[in-house]
Amino acid sequence: MSRVIAIAGAKGSPGCSFLAVALARRLAEGQVSTLLLDADAEGGGVAALLDLGPADASNANSADEPAIEVDQNLSFAEIGNASAEVFNGLQWLSDARARHQAVIVDLGHSTGSLQRQLSAAADWLLWVVVPDRSGLQRADAALASGALGAASAGLIFNRVRRGCLEGAEAALASRHQLPILGRFAEDRQVAARLTRGLPVHRVWSLRRPLRELAKSIHPDAGAAVLAWR
Ligand SMILES: Nc1ncnc2c1ncn2[C@@H]1O[C@H](COP(=O)(O)OP(=O)(O)O)[C@@H](O)[C@H]1O
Ligand SMILES: [Mg+2]
Repeated sequence: MSRVIAIAGAKGSPGCSFLAVALARRLAEGQVSTLLLDADAEGGGVAALLDLGPADASNANSADEPAIEVDQNLSFAEIGNASAEVFNGLQWLSDARARHQAVIVDLGHSTGSLQRQLSAAADWLLWVVVPDRSGLQRADAALASGALGAASAGLIFNRVRRGCLEGAEAALASRHQLPILGRFAEDRQVAARLTRGLPVHRVWSLRRPLRELAKSIHPDAGAAVLAWR
């Protein structure tokens, strides 16, 4: 069973790339064969978060061009800016589905035709939102615009800290009729590990929310995550 999971946010770097990398690593570690695609029109920098040099990053221009192996069960590809007009996202995703159990797509926060195409073909669209005043306002506007859609969608609150607007999280969810699929705390270790290109999914505060998220969005994650403690 293959699942395509697209990740998007409104402006302001809510943590799309962070979530894409953490979720992809988590699934891969749970023996789910996973492909991570950086499709951020402004350059998501996922390669850097995986500690891959720019020269290593494969250009996903053509469906025949293989993604690069990052780790056991984890491959990575990116769509360069220049190739966005000629890239056939639907074809690419259908090839990717045939080869991988999970395809995680980092759409970033700038919506063009490619991002719309990829999200329309996704099983899940995860909106990453920082639950402070500007993060919630931006997310509200992005969601109301209806620019992106997928078979199912949900909200992920990231960088949650004390004093965040808790009632507002529920208000956003009910206003847009979206389930809340995860809450990730603001954690200094996350930023420290990300900037050094170190795997981030094992940071203690992320374990439970990542496990719960993986179970909600991927049927194969159910058995595998039993081993994750
Ligand atoms: N839960 C978190 N705790 C602490 N820092 C975080 C967290 N999530 C993201 N960050 C930091 O926020 C910044 C933006 O994250 P990133 O994933 O690159 O955002 P986006 O892809 O949405 O632009 C990065 O410096 C990252 O280290
Ligand atoms: Mg990014």
